[in-house]
Amino acid sequence: MKEQPEKTLKIKEFLKQVPLFTDLEDEEIDLIYQVSRIVHYPPDTLILSEDEPGNRLYVILTGRVKIALWGEEGQEIILSVLKQGEFFGEMSLLDEEPRSANVVTLEDTETISIQRKDFTAQMKKHPGILLKVARELCRRLRNADKKIGDLAFLQVYGRVAQLLMQLASSQGIVTKYGILIPNMPTHREIAANLGSSREAVSRVLSDMKKRGQISTSGRQLILHEKLMDTLD
Ligand code: CMP
Repeated sequence: MKEQPEKTLKIKEFLKQVPLFTDLEDEEIDLIYQVSRIVHYPPDTLILSEDEPGNRLYVILTGRVKIALWGEEGQEIILSVLKQGEFFGEMSLLDEEPRSANVVTLEDTETISIQRKDFTAQMKKHPGILLKVARELCRRLRNADKKIGDLAFLQVYGRVAQLLMQLASSQGIVTKYGILIPNMPTHREIAANLGSSREAVSRVLSDMKKRGQISTSGRQLILHEKLMDTLD
């Protein structure tokens, strides 16, 4: 069942503003509206589940959703939060693989969704739509790359900090500046010890220096209280 005329007009006006559809003529917006499905979801509703098949693309009319992955032990990784005018579900629509993530509403949310065949028909007529989807995919991939980089950095950071604590307890000398480790292994040795790369270890140590957590001189390193605070 379709909406009241006033609401219909509002939705069509909104669709014209959605970046994905700005190239479309009024009649094409009408067509999209006719073949679309509008659904309202309360907060905390699972709209799409990871691994299920899917052939619809969703545009958020109102509200916000999170894109999330859930680990075996229930831990959640939020990949992104999408708001009004943004779209999701394009991946399964394009590659015909199962949904890549879970999509859950964060608040009252209304979506308009269209099926693969209807979206594909518009994409063929207006290659500009495809370009916009591709640009958005690039933006999301860049964000994901950054997240992977940050996670890898945090992992090495934690391992280096742990090693420094071990060295401090085995050979550390208490000074008024902090705990002095008189004979530090080289970055290469630390990397080999931690199963990491020399570059990653150097990056972590220089980050710790910038934060005032450590200072170094030759093979000597001083652990300042700041680093120990972060490990509490
Ligand atoms: P699809 O795989 O069809 O269903 C889940 C959707 O979540 C996916 O399409 C994208 O729209 C969205 N999605 C998956 N991964 C990300 C990500 N890293 N950033 C933003 N959105 C994503």
